[in-house]
Amino acid sequence: MSRLDLWKDPWPLDVGQCPCDVHFTRFLAERGLSGQRIFHLGTGDHHHVGLQAPAGNHAVLGITATEPEYVSYIRLAVENPHLGKFYKVLFSDIYQINPRLLPEFDIVTLFHLCEFWSQANAPFAALDDRGVLEALSRKVRTGGLVLFYTGSFAYDAAARLIPDWQAGTGFVEEPGYESLRIFRKT
Ligand SMILES: C[S@@+](CC[C@H](N)C(=O)[O-])C[C@H]1O[C@@H](n2cnc3c(N)ncnc32)[C@H](O)[C@@H]1O
Repeated sequence: MSRLDLWKDPWPLDVGQCPCDVHFTRFLAERGLSGQRIFHLGTGDHHHVGLQAPAGNHAVLGITATEPEYVSYIRLAVENPHLGKFYKVLFSDIYQINPRLLPEFDIVTLFHLCEFWSQANAPFAALDDRGVLEALSRKVRTGGLVLFYTGSFAYDAAARLIPDWQAGTGFVEEPGYESLRIFRKT
């Protein structure tokens, strides 16, 4: 019987190894951004971005493909009822994301673009990495942002997608923030 082969281990917050989520929440705070509608690829088991959502009045939709991370979100939502108004988590392989089910966003984080493609899951994929980038960035409002993480192990592959994507969609690069590259939809 065929099954999706997904990331199994819950990911703890490890700023030494993977600081993107902390850089992102610092970016939001330092720019004084509040009330943002955020699509966040890769919640981690720590749910750092989602946990910061109430303080900034953000609406965060996080995605995980790791069962224990989905379970830890359920526990958080039950134990902290206030959080659930600001932070939702979707369990899905990013390559099975269905753009017809997604709303408009102010910010899309694609920190882990190109990290998860696998031949085992390819027969079940709706999109490849280029498709994920195009579909998610189409959901960004004019003036909104797409962010990439230069510390990703797959950053070289993600960076190779950026020039064609930019040419076709009119995103303009702005000065980066810590490990993040920032593109605004014109
Ligand atoms: C290395 S962790 C990073 C988590 C967090 N962004 C951080 O930097 O601490 C990767 C995250 O991507 C998620 N992930 C792994 N494979 C995925 C896939 N195929 N589709 C969507 N998310 C996936 C994992 O569930 C996990 O939350």
